[in-house]
Amino acid sequence: MDAPATGTGLIVRPVCEMDTAAIEAIDERLLGRYRPHHWETRVRYYLSRDPEAALVAELDGEVVGFLFADIRGWEFGLDEPTAWIEVVGVHPDQQHRGIGRRLAEQLLEHCRAQGVRYVRTMVHQDDHAIAGFMRSLGLEPAPWTAYAREL
Ligand SMILES: CC(C)(COP(=O)(O)OP(=O)(O)OC[C@H]1O[C@@H](n2cnc3c(N)ncnc32)[C@H](O)[C@@H]1OP(=O)(O)O)[C@@H](O)C(=O)NCCC(=O)NCCS
Repeated sequence: MDAPATGTGLIVRPVCEMDTAAIEAIDERLLGRYRPHHWETRVRYYLSRDPEAALVAELDGEVVGFLFADIRGWEFGLDEPTAWIEVVGVHPDQQHRGIGRRLAEQLLEHCRAQGVRYVRTMVHQDDHAIAGFMRSLGLEPAPWTAYAREL
């Protein structure tokens, strides 16, 4: 791990619309695509759901990471509310400093306080970084298979 960001000027808080540009910039650094319309829509969606489950990490006043989850229940035959982690991203210059973990821990704390007992996500089999991150949080491969086809 690089120098931990915890104990510095790191705070984790619910996302707000003003964060959209910073999230777009991190996404562009991570994936090489500029998707402003996508993020405007997504941030509005999370704000309309549970903002405490859609978190950004701010280091010395600058947004450096985000983790967005949605608490839903009863999809896919599951009979309990689940916090679905839908997207996570930490600025490449700030990775491996404990920022992703801080975001996730705050989400899990919020979920426990809401009485939510399960957290789930989907990870592409080639995405070893996200898989390693999820495993470090205690998430394990689960006995469901994603089915898909192109239309
Ligand atoms: C995966 C990611 C969120 C981790 O964030 P981070 O702030 O660097 O993670 P942390 O420093 O908090 O590390 C937390 C744990 O995850 C694990 N981890 C982090 N990066 C990892 C990697 N590349 N491979 C394997 N494990 C990894 C660490 O081992 C650590 O475990 P530990 O606390 O037990 O030591 C970050 O690397 C990232 O944003 N990757 C790109 C994600 C992406 O492309 N998102 C889609 C675009 S929006």
